[in-house]
Amino acid sequence: MTEAERAEELRRQLREANHRYYVLDAPTLSDAEYDRLFRELTQLEEAHPELRTADSPTQRVGAQPSEKFAKVQHRRPMMSLANVMSDEELAEFDARVHRLLGDEPVGYVFEPKLDGLAVTLTYENGRFVQGATRGDGQLGEDVTANLRTIKSVPLQLQAGAPSVLEARGEVFIPKADFARLNAEREAAGEPTFVNPRNSAAGSLRQLDPRETAKRPLSMFFYDVGETGELRFSSHWEKLAKMKDLGLRTNPENKLVRSLDEIRAHYADLLRRRHDVPYEIDGTVVKVDSEDQRRRLGSVSRTPRWAVAYKFPAEEEATTVEDIQVSVGRTGALTPVAFLTPVHVGGVTVARATLHNEEEVRRKDVRKGDRIFLRRAGDVIPEIVRVIAEARPKEGLPEFRMPTHCPACGAEVHREGAITRCTNLSCPAQLHGRLRHFASRGAMDIEGLGDQTCSQLVERGLVKTPADLYALTREQWLGLERMGDKSVDNLLAALERSKQTSLRRFIYALGIRLVGEATARALALQFQSVERLLDATLDELQGVRDVGPEVAEQIHDFTQTAENREAVRRLLAAGIQPAPEVVLARGPFAGKTVVLTGSLAGYSREQAKAEIERRGGRVSGSVSRKTDLVVAGGDSGSKLKKASELGVRVVDEAGFHALLQEEQR
Ligand code: IVH
Repeated sequence: MTEAERAEELRRQLREANHRYYVLDAPTLSDAEYDRLFRELTQLEEAHPELRTADSPTQRVGAQPSEKFAKVQHRRPMMSLANVMSDEELAEFDARVHRLLGDEPVGYVFEPKLDGLAVTLTYENGRFVQGATRGDGQLGEDVTANLRTIKSVPLQLQAGAPSVLEARGEVFIPKADFARLNAEREAAGEPTFVNPRNSAAGSLRQLDPRETAKRPLSMFFYDVGETGELRFSSHWEKLAKMKDLGLRTNPENKLVRSLDEIRAHYADLLRRRHDVPYEIDGTVVKVDSEDQRRRLGSVSRTPRWAVAYKFPAEEEATTVEDIQVSVGRTGALTPVAFLTPVHVGGVTVARATLHNEEEVRRKDVRKGDRIFLRRAGDVIPEIVRVIAEARPKEGLPEFRMPTHCPACGAEVHREGAITRCTNLSCPAQLHGRLRHFASRGAMDIEGLGDQTCSQLVERGLVKTPADLYALTREQWLGLERMGDKSVDNLLAALERSKQTSLRRFIYALGIRLVGEATARALALQFQSVERLLDATLDELQGVRDVGPEVAEQIHDFTQTAENREAVRRLLAAGIQPAPEVVLARGPFAGKTVVLTGSLAGYSREQAKAEIERRGGRVSGSVSRKTDLVVAGGDSGSKLKKASELGVRVVDEAGFHALLQEEQR
């Protein structure tokens, strides 16, 4: 084999490997093998520069930086899409399509709407010759050298390419790569990007392609302009052909026949929005048939045959009207931004927490600033950044954390990033403690809302949670918006709350750093309030999942006289926290049990609950992992299996005896 032949062979293999990796998503070469071939080709080309071709995989970065981008005239205009924001608007689009086409069936192609940057790539006889941004749709910017650096962009198409092909699609940065890129920039002290879209745009418009090459850009193709002698009868066929030619298409694309199918795919994609590896801001619905498209035509650069069905925006601009400081149940001062209400991520948002003073400094948020607000999925709304250009030239006053508690005027104290009010009877803290005490995961007192708690604190009716149980009917009726019915319900809820579990009670106390999981662990370990109050620091540290810091907080709490008194009064009010009976020891603890046949004294649910309460797990089938089989009457195959595997079997009497073992 001559060197020229070897070079050609290497180019072919590398091209094939790229195609299999990026387009077919079915790689055949390992990274190491790819690197070896790549290195061999590089060396060959260095030794024999005349063997170097423009479409060689080694030639992705080679162009010199330019002064500015040349203008490129698109052969066919690049159109943009009209938006629909709701199911009704989508139905209107579909109705119009049907009206314009008469009563014939219409098929659609459903695609994710990628949140990147539209580009067009011109291939002549299969060779990538020029690439451009969308620009105004007629005239774009020549970013050929930069597009060449994107690995999912083929420099040479597979067999069957027409003489000319304008291939169009979206350049983007996958979310994971974006996170990595930003982490690197942050570490290097460079400014970070706001979102993947911005960073993709910035990366593609680098004058030096060597810079672009460092950015993790990626691409999907979804349309064509000029196609030479190639003709298509449908979009779906076009997508298949693009893929055959080596132009990566989105595997999420779907051929659909009805509006209902579109709705289902839309709902599905919206739900998975955060799981797909790149940002999408909606879906695109396109009439499939080319003939129908021709008849539908377009109005001023917007086709009548396609529409963007957008997702609710997750990022919106709004104004910080004020920054106020709220005081929580632990006394922590939290700056909160009050915003001009905006619709974002499907809900209206009027405030966003700024967490603490350092966070405000880091983001440099000030009263009066324009900001970008983000609310993705169920995540709490977050201020992404200040729009610096929008700040008035004369500037805005910096935020200052108050030196005194805004609720009670007591001095505040800094602990690391947290600023705390030092006054234990601060009304804001009391309000927070009451809210926490009554919350669903704690004492679950329905009807004791925010407003009611405020009134109780303001009027001095309640100083500690125990006071809630001492209020008379008349006192409750004296509060605003408390009628006979609400008071009846509230009194009933208070009464119900007295029968609670130890873990809820411990959680309700609002001990710092003690969440629901820790409360449960403490309840399991100590089995009574009294024992928890008397636990030593050592004993507390011995509890599973309780670290030294948490143990110290608990110990501080239990050793403070006011707290002990508050707990004593709660118990005196009639609260009876039931000890946790999920045991860490005993015949069922940590065991896998299988129930088979019928028991006379227990329903299946009862038996299961008894086992689980003792720390066991009930499984449906017998295996080597089964510790015990409880065999009632008419036990069949499971009993047989158990004896084959040598698993311990008990009958109902034996089961009953085991349950008694742990009763104390
Ligand atoms: S088709 C005439 N398909 O949305 C149709 N566009 O306003 C031309 N986009 O500029 C575009 N994903 O940047 C099409 N699957 C997709 C798309 C998509 C994202 C962007 C593209 C275009 C804009 C349309």
